[in-house]
Formats: sequence, structure tokens, C-alpha cells
Amino acid sequence: MRVAGTHVLLTGATGDIGRRLATHLSDAAARLTLVARSTQPLEALAADLGAHAVSADLTDRDTLRSLIRDVEQAHGPVDVLVNNAGTETVGHLTDLTADDLEHLLALNLLAPVELCRQVLPGMTARGRGHLVNISSLAGVATFPGLATYGATKAGLTHFTSGLRADLRGGPIGTLAVEIGPVSSQMMSRIASHPPTAAAFDRVLGLRALTMLDPDAVARAVVAAVEDDQATLRMPRRAAPLATLAHAPRSVVRLALTGIR
Ligand SMILES: NC(=O)c1ccc[n+]([C@@H]2O[C@H](COP(=O)([O-])OP(=O)(O)OC[C@H]3O[C@@H](n4cnc5c(N)ncnc54)[C@H](OP(=O)(O)O)[C@@H]3O)[C@@H](O)[C@H]2O)c1
Repeated sequence: MRVAGTHVLLTGATGDIGRRLATHLSDAAARLTLVARSTQPLEALAADLGAHAVSADLTDRDTLRSLIRDVEQAHGPVDVLVNNAGTETVGHLTDLTADDLEHLLALNLLAPVELCRQVLPGMTARGRGHLVNISSLAGVATFPGLATYGATKAGLTHFTSGLRADLRGGPIGTLAVEIGPVSSQMMSRIASHPPTAAAFDRVLGLRALTMLDPDAVARAVVAAVEDDQATLRMPRRAAPLATLAHAPRSVVRLALTGIR
């Protein structure tokens, strides 16, 4: 889908990747509505880009349930939804509280699925739309200390694949973004857990993965939307591994539906 002139709703806009996404989408002439909890950095970014700022906690049930209606009433129909907001848990399962788990699942899995559910009827009625879900290679490979985070990202990737099959032949596009480690505050927090840091040091040392630049990720996401790509996997050297991991799903989908 051509991004120019579309109204893009971007969640997690104030984060390391979100800021770059906002900038590249704005450079591509999209009209932006930016979502995060914090008001000051969000409003400053929105002012810089001539965007709308919507301060919202996506883990708050009532806020989430009315978000698309509220945004569309205030700023018009959403053409592109970019589910980028996310958080991480790192460490052993027993180090996490019940609240940590609930928060992780609410933000990383429930919120993007629910926002897709809310935005789809309007997109379908208007005959155009694009759904972008920012997932992770941690949903493909299991890294020490990232079992719960990886599970949410595996769920988001699987959901996006299933949704794409359900929307096949219609006007709504989907993009699943599976990215490896990005130079970011989230990555620094993840690396505070020694077993996780050691695993990343190993794969980076073997050059099986590279540390991604958030700006390059954002630029690639915008290009992938414009090219109607189904998936974006970065770094490219990890793409064969992800393709192999997804092979059973692809084979079963082909057998069940004829969809490649
Ligand atoms: N960084 C990496 O290495 C990496 C690798 C693969 C995938 N990813 C994925 O890429 C996405 C962006 O990551 P990032 O590194 O940019 O993360 P980040 O810097 O931690 O940014 C997270 C964004 O989400 C917002 N957010 C957090 N909790 C929220 C809530 N409850 N409600 C609404 N917004 C909330 C934050 O703003 P507020 O705090 O103001 O709400 C911020 O804008 C995430 O989905 C992440 O899982 C990241």
C-alpha cells in the first residue's frame, strides 16, 4: 500500500524503534496518530512531525476497547495500523510476578490483536487498509531468559499469519515484522540478565545475527508496507532460519487451504 496520504496509527511511537518509524512514515507523507503512555515526549514528537498525539495505556482494558473508535472520531479513519508498542520480561519464570505476566501478555499480544479486531470492519467497508505487527526473532528461536517474551512474539507472528490467510483476496494487507536484536534501551535491559547476554554475545560473535540499527529497521518496515510484503525478516542472514521454523505452518496451510 502506498503510504503517502494515508492515516497511520502507530503505537509505541516514543520508543527507540517507534520514533524512527514515525519519522520515516512522516517522510513518506503519511498523516500520523502517535500512541504511547507518556505525554511529554509523545506531544513533542507529534509537534515535530505535525502528527496527532494520543496518550493511552494499552494495558488498560477500557482504554484499549475504545481506542480505534476514539482515534477515528477525533482524527478520521485509520488506513494503516502499526502495532509496535511492546515490552520485555527477562529472567526465569519464577522471577516474574503474576502482574508482570499479565502486563506482558496484555501489551504484546492482546493489544495488537484487539486493535486489529477493532480497525478491520472500517477498513473492509472502505476497501483499503494495512495491518503491521512488530514481532521478533525471539518468537522463532528460544533465547535463555526470554521464554515469556518470546511466547508473546511467537503468538503475534502466528496470529498475523492466520489473519493474512483469512484476509486473502481482499483489500486489507498484513505485514509480520520479525527482527533480531536492535541497538536500543530494550536490548540493554534484556542484556542485564547474564545468561541472555551470553547467548546474544555468542550469536553475534558467530555472526549468525547482527545488531540492527533502529533507523534501518524503520526504513525497511515502511518499504515493506509499500511493497505489500507479507513478512520482513532482519537481519537478512537470519531469514533462512525463520523460513525453516515456519515451514510446518506453511505446509499445513497449503494442505488445508491451498494458500501458499
Ligand atoms: N529493541 C529490540 O531489540 C527489539 C527486537 C525485536 C523486536 N522488538 C519489538 O519492537 C517493538 C518496539 O521496541 P523498542 O525497542 O522500540 O521498545 P521501547 O524503546 O521500550 O519502546 C516501547 C514503546 O511502547 C510504549 N509503551 C510501553 N508500554 C505501553 C503501554 N502500556 N501502553 C501504550 N504504550 C506503551 C512506550 O512508550 P511509554 O512508555 O511512554 O508508554 C514506547 O513508546 C516492540 O514490540 C519490541 O518487542 C524490539
